[in-house]
Amino acid sequence: MRFFIDTANVDEIREVASWGVLSGVTTNPSLVAKSGKTFEDVIKEITDIVDGAISGEVKATTTKAEDMIAEGREIAKIHKNMVVKIPMTKEGLKAIAVLGKEGIATNCTLIFTPLQALLAARAGASYVSPFLGRLDDVGTRGVSLIEDIVEIFELHGIDTEIIAASIRNNMHVLECAKAGADIATVPYSVFKSMLDHPLTDIGIRKFVADYEKSVK
Ligand code: E4P
Repeated sequence: MRFFIDTANVDEIREVASWGVLSGVTTNPSLVAKSGKTFEDVIKEITDIVDGAISGEVKATTTKAEDMIAEGREIAKIHKNMVVKIPMTKEGLKAIAVLGKEGIATNCTLIFTPLQALLAARAGASYVSPFLGRLDDVGTRGVSLIEDIVEIFELHGIDTEIIAASIRNNMHVLECAKAGADIATVPYSVFKSMLDHPLTDIGIRKFVADYEKSVK
């Protein structure tokens, strides 16, 4: 499983990219709004930091396929690594199909059922983004969605990549890795908590103390 970071905060992206673990970035309209920058400005900054797939979503107010297609073509022109993120709607599927035929990479977002993922894959999506955290929020086991999509895609030889999204904690990351998700898009706070363990800190302090004793 590869890692993307789920943020439009360039400081967070720069930090995690420096760890050498990042293969890409996902953004959405809420994350871009939180960054306080325009979509174009923040996306350009991100393309300078990460050499990997960068998902930029069509405007939340763009609902017609023809408008998503036009916007998707503009997003694709920003940089060779751009992936056009499109919501899972009937119009979204039409746009994914057209953009896919033009060789433009797409990420179908807001996936909450395995059949939505299958439709998106068959329309030609390069990636699907099932949202497990939001399912957990409403009392449904989100990781089951990832397991089901992995099983279906394997069974039918589908090469659309599965981005486990709406990740809220370390257990989500662990379970997605075990389920066989291709990618997890992880918020900065979860990256930080994946890194730390109290026994690592204790171990480092002990090595430092023993080293200092040995060189006295
Ligand atoms: C994925 O691409 C989405 O941007 C994201 O994971 C949504 O997460 P949330 O449910 O925490 O908003």
